[in-house]
Amino acid sequence: MSKQIQVAIDGPASAGKSTVAKILAKKMGYIYCDTGAMYRVVTFHALENKIDLKNVEELMNALNHLDISFDYVEGVQHVYANGVDVTTDIRMPDVTNHVSEVAAIKEIRHELVNRQKAISASQSIVMDGRDIGTVVLPDADLKIFLVASVKERAERRYKENVSKGIMTSLEVLQKEIEDRDYYDSHRKESPLIQAKDAIKVDTTGLSIEEVVKVIENELKKVI
Ligand code: DC
Repeated sequence: MSKQIQVAIDGPASAGKSTVAKILAKKMGYIYCDTGAMYRVVTFHALENKIDLKNVEELMNALNHLDISFDYVEGVQHVYANGVDVTTDIRMPDVTNHVSEVAAIKEIRHELVNRQKAISASQSIVMDGRDIGTVVLPDADLKIFLVASVKERAERRYKENVSKGIMTSLEVLQKEIEDRDYYDSHRKESPLIQAKDAIKVDTTGLSIEEVVKVIENELKKVI
């Protein structure tokens, strides 16, 4: 039996993590887990059910009854909340603007980290997020920390939004990314930091294929 491999990809918003993680997982035949989507599902569910995001007890009660699952339909990842497809809903600006607040709650993180560890327990996996190399998979075979300039990340998110029919201004997106970077890296619980043994890859000016190649080359060294 081949060795079970864990690849952790962390980095700030819109650095290209999920795009490259998905491609890498497909190429290697590993499963892919988008942990940001899990925080987004919790946020969407809370907003939908008018739960006060500051009420940790109510949020936890909702999360304890919330099943989050993934599957692929024609190569596209779909995310489900209690069996309902919320793939598009979790990318809406309202969720994006509140998710950092939810992701900063210790109890929520604890529960989602446990679920993420369970997902990765028995299969080779590429997992992306903010705390994968530091908290979720501290013994991962390969840890990548993806970064890119704020300007380029805002442009990427803008194009992504346009392709989904979501209209936002580039300036607003850039400000949101800066705010989210600050919030994610300064929160008390598992702030976004590069793991000591992670390899930093700056994707500014690189194509998706080039980034995947860099990571593949690193992966070849450890498998
Ligand atoms: O990658 P994303 O934009 O979908 O992430 C959504 C939010 O969740 C973002 O504010 C960071 C947070 N997050 C986190 O705190 N830990 C993770 N492992 C993944 C995402």
